[in-house]
Amino acid sequence: MTPTAKQATATMKQQSDLGVLGLAVMGRNLALNVESHDFQVSVYNRTYSTTDEFIAANDGKRLVPTRTLDELVQSLASPRKILLMVKAGAAVDAVIEQLIPLLERGDIVIDGGNSHYTDTERRDAYLTSKGLRFIGAGISGGEEGARKGPSIMPGGPTSTWEVMQPIFESIAAKAEGEPCVSHIGPGGAGHYVKMIHNGIEYGDMQLICEAYNLFKAAGFTSDEMAATFKRWNEGDLQSYLIQITGIALEQKDPQTGAPMVEIILDKAGQKGTGRWTLINAAENAVVISTINAAVEARVLSALKEQRVAASRELQGPKANITVAKPELVAKVHDALYASKIVSYAQGMALLMTMSEKKDWQLDLGQIAAIWRGGCIIRARFLNRITDAYRSNPALANLMLDPFFKGVLNKAQQNWREVVAMAVSSGIAVPAFSASLGYYDSYRAERLPANLLQAQRDFFGAHTYERVDKPPGERFHTQWPEVIG
Ligand SMILES: NC(=O)c1ccc[n+]([C@@H]2O[C@H](COP(=O)([O-])OP(=O)(O)OC[C@H]3O[C@@H](n4cnc5c(N)ncnc54)[C@H](OP(=O)(O)O)[C@@H]3O)[C@@H](O)[C@H]2O)c1
Repeated sequence: MTPTAKQATATMKQQSDLGVLGLAVMGRNLALNVESHDFQVSVYNRTYSTTDEFIAANDGKRLVPTRTLDELVQSLASPRKILLMVKAGAAVDAVIEQLIPLLERGDIVIDGGNSHYTDTERRDAYLTSKGLRFIGAGISGGEEGARKGPSIMPGGPTSTWEVMQPIFESIAAKAEGEPCVSHIGPGGAGHYVKMIHNGIEYGDMQLICEAYNLFKAAGFTSDEMAATFKRWNEGDLQSYLIQITGIALEQKDPQTGAPMVEIILDKAGQKGTGRWTLINAAENAVVISTINAAVEARVLSALKEQRVAASRELQGPKANITVAKPELVAKVHDALYASKIVSYAQGMALLMTMSEKKDWQLDLGQIAAIWRGGCIIRARFLNRITDAYRSNPALANLMLDPFFKGVLNKAQQNWREVVAMAVSSGIAVPAFSASLGYYDSYRAERLPANLLQAQRDFFGAHTYERVDKPPGERFHTQWPEVIG
């Protein structure tokens, strides 16, 4: 036995503080994170060789390997706490079914995977009916976050959250000293908020890609772009995604010496959380056009073969961006910042709508606060969102907060110029333009929906309200008959 192993064995407790079930990339890193905070962790993986390798690679740590679920359950202190980190979907249900007969009243199952919030609600009701306790926790930050500190969004009963709080708070990322975890709300609220986080992540990524595309069309080298993103990372746009973009753009392909990003095929993948967000927004009649544009941009990117064929058939203008580079950087900065504000305004509006519908009582300021560290959308400007909702929890739209209103009013001219420039150059900027469309629609005192209502009344006698009568009073016109 090595000295470290001896030392660890001496401090081993009879029973572990937490069980981690599933030792793929997330589970193994979370287990190490929890262990490093003075907890003893039992681990289990369906394929035992994975457990064996994990334990061998982490000699001396307070990790207890278990071969069977029964062994896992028996190794835990009561009330038992088991963190499921298995593939989202059917695997979670399968594992829960296997655990139920082994667990005792009051034991806690935590699903830390990317489960759909409605599945979490169903599992919560099911486990509660069996006398067990359940937490659906969204965990963001990928491999590195899981190991060094993720952002955690737990949903479930307050009393169960309180049992888990010490572990969650110690392993979560810290932002300005505060742990990036807090009780989100009951049932599926945690997984719901994680889903919206992912939708916002899609929006942020697409907006950055559109900025890159414009720079490219304007003749920037990858190094010039890298330098721009690095500079932006020192200012208002400071965020993890801007930071990694700067780093990615300066990497060179070892085989060809070309910029790495130019060697990567322009065909985006997705795992579905962005699409879930769109479906939920549509079901609740909330506009999330920036996230929508981002999801659709990935879908269109995947049609690579069709796009290549169409590029030879369908005409467009030649890219013609004549603005001097420093001026273009300033304009695109404003377009990106303003579009990002719109995207968050939309995401927050969806959170607020669902909070009211489900009576989750989501604290939007606190949600923004726990996104400041550990997760993929971590960014300086989340502090401003926290401030906005702390000073006005009933804020109708984030764009109306005094700080964000000021930014948008200042940026809107450059934002328009960037969209116009892209359109006249034939460069698709779906997220920049969707955000601007939302901004202009939201601030429009009068929209052309009057004509739309006329059309509806014309063909379907759907009736309309009049500008000169009290709201709610309905009118119908006998429109001329259309022949043929
Ligand atoms: N990867 C990320 O960056 C990331 C970030 C945030 C959230 N998440 C979410 O976190 C969860 C875990 O992600 P991951 O990437 O670590 O793993 P994963 O690839 O999603 O899942 C693999 C794990 O699930 C186990 N598994 C699959 N089916 C099973 C079944 N029927 N019974 C028991 N175990 C089963 C596998 O065991 P075997 O080894 O036996 O196959 C393995 O441990 C997922 O919900 C994922 O969406 C992932």
